[in-house]
Amino acid sequence: MGRGAFEHNYQSLRVPALSVPAYDLQPTRLALDWPTPTALSTVHLFCADNLRLARWLLQGQQRFRLIYLDPPFASGKRYVARVNGGPGVAAAVVPAYHDDRAFDDYLRWLEPRLVIARELLTDDGTLYVHLDWHAVHYVKVMLDRIFGRQRFLNEIIWCYHGPSAITSAFKRKHDTILVYTRSRNYYFNADAVRVPYDEATVRTFRSSRRAGFGKVPDLARGKVPEDWWYFPVVARLHRERVGYQTQKPEALLRRILLASSAPGDQVLDLFSGSGTTGVVAAKLERHATLCDIHPLAIEKTLLRLRRLDPLPAVALWRYRQDHNGAADQMATPLEGVHRSEEER
Ligand SMILES: C[S@@+](CC[C@H](N)C(=O)[O-])C[C@H]1O[C@@H](n2cnc3c(N)ncnc32)[C@H](O)[C@@H]1O
Repeated sequence: MGRGAFEHNYQSLRVPALSVPAYDLQPTRLALDWPTPTALSTVHLFCADNLRLARWLLQGQQRFRLIYLDPPFASGKRYVARVNGGPGVAAAVVPAYHDDRAFDDYLRWLEPRLVIARELLTDDGTLYVHLDWHAVHYVKVMLDRIFGRQRFLNEIIWCYHGPSAITSAFKRKHDTILVYTRSRNYYFNADAVRVPYDEATVRTFRSSRRAGFGKVPDLARGKVPEDWWYFPVVARLHRERVGYQTQKPEALLRRILLASSAPGDQVLDLFSGSGTTGVVAAKLERHATLCDIHPLAIEKTLLRLRRLDPLPAVALWRYRQDHNGAADQMATPLEGVHRSEEER
């Protein structure tokens, strides 16, 4: 496939009201030219600092059965996006979000967002926090304090492969997703995520009923996946790629949504980036509330949602206090955050 062939995905749906300075005292609904929806799903898409939005959602008594958070990882990097690509037209590379706070500042910035995420869960709800080796061990301890260690459900290792310049260590090719539940009565649909047993396992059990550890599995029903998952990263030739660095694969979100939400449920993503959670939610008939501080992320998300068939209903909101695109990304207000019982 030639270069221009995939660059048609590197576009965004421009919304002028997102690129002007704004000081919104309340979330402001923006006009959106959107055809009649044909899907059962509604997506509320907010351009906002997520702590501010989370407080507003909490005040409004909104609760979510599933919250997925894919924050910056404390990688020390600045990320870019590709825009204005088209058939045969090379895309331009523009700055997206930056992830270069000092490490302690990063932890102080993230903590209130995790605390409030717990408050926003339904009693049977589940939080997934997606990180990697940079900060995950620190955040695990933080989440244990916020939720209580007994509410830790899984540490999911998402493995992938790809090029790496490293020759002085093993290549760092996995992310870690920490999973916590609000209570012990959490929703988990094991049957929705079953996968076929490996061919070797099937062969072994077919050859002898005495194989394995003494229990013959239901080979036709498939198995609940282990806590390590392989899904390829979204690479250049993948159709889902929209030119937003750190875009997560739909397959990964699909498994998370199938396991921890049901059709008609409310799902929240406070670091929604290019909108993968919203796209998967719409495909699986869940309702999604998405938030990203960066106008470009919102515009990429709109374009992705616009291409879906059936088409979800979309409400676009702005709730900003800034003078330019991503200025309040660094804001770290700590006051007034609801603390969990374990933390008080
Ligand atoms: C790792 S990316 C998320 C990628 C996303 N999961 C996807 O599939 O495209 C992190 C996102 O968090 C956003 N972000 C950073 N600080 C934020 C804040 N205070 N409020 C809302 N979004 C924020 C960034 O703009 C960036 O798009």
